[in-house]
Amino acid sequence: MRVNIAQIKEMKHKGEKIAMLTAYDYSTAKIVDEAGLPLILVGDSLGMVVLGYETPIPVTLDVMIHHTKAVVRGTSQSLIVGDLPFMTYHVSTEDALRNAARFIQEAGCQSVKLEGGVTVAEKVRRIVQCGIPVMGHIGLTPQSVNQLGGWRVQGKTPEAASQLLKDAIALDEAGAFAVVLEQVPTSLATLISKKISIPTIGIGAGNGCDGQVLVINDVFGLSDRVPKLAKQYTNVGESMRRAVTEYYNDVKSGAFPTDKNSFTMDESILAGMK
Ligand code: KIV
Repeated sequence: MRVNIAQIKEMKHKGEKIAMLTAYDYSTAKIVDEAGLPLILVGDSLGMVVLGYETPIPVTLDVMIHHTKAVVRGTSQSLIVGDLPFMTYHVSTEDALRNAARFIQEAGCQSVKLEGGVTVAEKVRRIVQCGIPVMGHIGLTPQSVNQLGGWRVQGKTPEAASQLLKDAIALDEAGAFAVVLEQVPTSLATLISKKISIPTIGIGAGNGCDGQVLVINDVFGLSDRVPKLAKQYTNVGESMRRAVTEYYNDVKSGAFPTDKNSFTMDESILAGMK
């Protein structure tokens, strides 16, 4: 049985920390699911870490649905959150609803995430009213990186801090089941976490959040560079590089394949052909 949003909300009230990771494909999602993480985010960060763009902006809903389907196929326990990409929920509430519904129906994820606070609260309310769980995302919102003027910490002025709190409250009141706080000073993120009833999931938002999320490529050592907000837990990239070089050398030298990797047949059949 998959984790549901009631269980995620309950974790905050029990004081149980919530761990979420991103995944973008079947085999990685399977690993995260088997490790028991309650939440997997198919983030539009895939635009950067899988597809090589500089921002998530070029990612389309069709691309997100394609990857989310693979993640859903690889999992049976984690609650899957599909990240609504740039401009799929901005134009109108009808648009937001239609695209959230496509995500759920076509990709098979159990919830969607969208960026913004007060300005998207009405859309969140409508999507939730239609039976689709929504995760909010405030602070550094990567789809607005051009408007924000770069990848910087948010909420550092009195006005910005108070706006972030208002955004979090608006999402809570609109019925979101959780909210991501990205690149927010620890003390502000802690205050927000205490003020709202739904779990906060931090990334670069300190230890006072109810949960944490990381981009899995950073965890695995597969990113071009590990950002300050992340922790690299292993160096899969290095193992992959070593394996590729070894394979290349084996093919060149003839060390691969051996009889172990090859197939036999009745040689008398070939005798006639020679
Ligand atoms: O797209 C993503 O991976 C995200 C996380 C960083 C929260 O939005």
